[in-house]
Amino acid sequence: MKNNVLTPGLADAMVRVTELAAIAASAEVGRGDEKKADAAAVDAMRSAFNEVEFRGRVVIGEGERDEAPMLYIGEEVGTGKGPEIDIALDPLEGTTLTAKAMANALAVLAIAPRGGLLYAPDTYMDKIAIGPGYAEGLVSLDATPAENIKALAKAAGRKIADMTVCVLDRPRHEDIIESLRSAGARIALITDGDVAGVIATTNSLTGIDMYVGSGGAPEGVLAAAALKCVGGQMFGRLVFRNDDEKKRAAKTGISDFGKTYSLNELASGDTVFCATGVTNGTMLNGVLYKDARVHTHTLVMTSTDGMVRYVRSARKV
Ligand code: FBP
Repeated sequence: MKNNVLTPGLADAMVRVTELAAIAASAEVGRGDEKKADAAAVDAMRSAFNEVEFRGRVVIGEGERDEAPMLYIGEEVGTGKGPEIDIALDPLEGTTLTAKAMANALAVLAIAPRGGLLYAPDTYMDKIAIGPGYAEGLVSLDATPAENIKALAKAAGRKIADMTVCVLDRPRHEDIIESLRSAGARIALITDGDVAGVIATTNSLTGIDMYVGSGGAPEGVLAAAALKCVGGQMFGRLVFRNDDEKKRAAKTGISDFGKTYSLNELASGDTVFCATGVTNGTMLNGVLYKDARVHTHTLVMTSTDGMVRYVRSARKV
């Protein structure tokens, strides 16, 4: 790794952080209590961070200081010695998925040297993402979903009927779904978890060719940090439902409310991205207790060398 701040040791430490958050959240899988599941993951993630020798600062976290007791935006974590690192985190991406024991719940985080991640407010973001290997700007938030999937199919040398687009199943996406269906594409509707939806575009085994739709802006930055490591394209534009959301965005330093952010603006620095499965999913197995051990499955990626690694761990229980 050429970057001497994001060392392999730091990447390994981050793996442990998402592993421990996922294990904690897994105790709440299928118990119908989203808040309890989230709290378990947050608590475990924070304790694990505090054992890491770094000066970590949460830039995308559980909320503003007055609304989140732990891992709030601006909270300092780590031992207070070592490199200065910015952190985007979602200790439990898919609280409902966990509460209902559904696929693709993750404990997830991304780190970058200070200033390397967009300080996104907790608003919605329009997103579009495709995997690596295509001309820059092939898809755009200014084109219709139908135009985008047609362009992608043409570039991939495939029929539109064979292309699959991942979309969050929400009433607000009716027009997107209609546009894609009229073009003849398949749609993989997900109930939650668009970080996994975006990352799926980078792995041909998932069968997902494009992600489109609006979801959380913090999740957008996390997904961008992942794509930064494997390649692929992503664009994001903040969506404001009222003036209060604009005020919150202004507090994070955003002044151009209509700006379309490219991947490199969402994650401008080098990144390490880690995700551990809480429940089984398209790319990761969930936490499993077997033979007196707790087994975890983690995806860790680093942008400095484009490394993609899957880590299976088993700890005594
Ligand atoms: P939580 O883990 O906070 O429940 O978020 C899950 C999620 O599906 C995200 O992946 C997505 O970005 C966002 O919620 C979509 O928001 P909404 O449910 O309001 O459409």
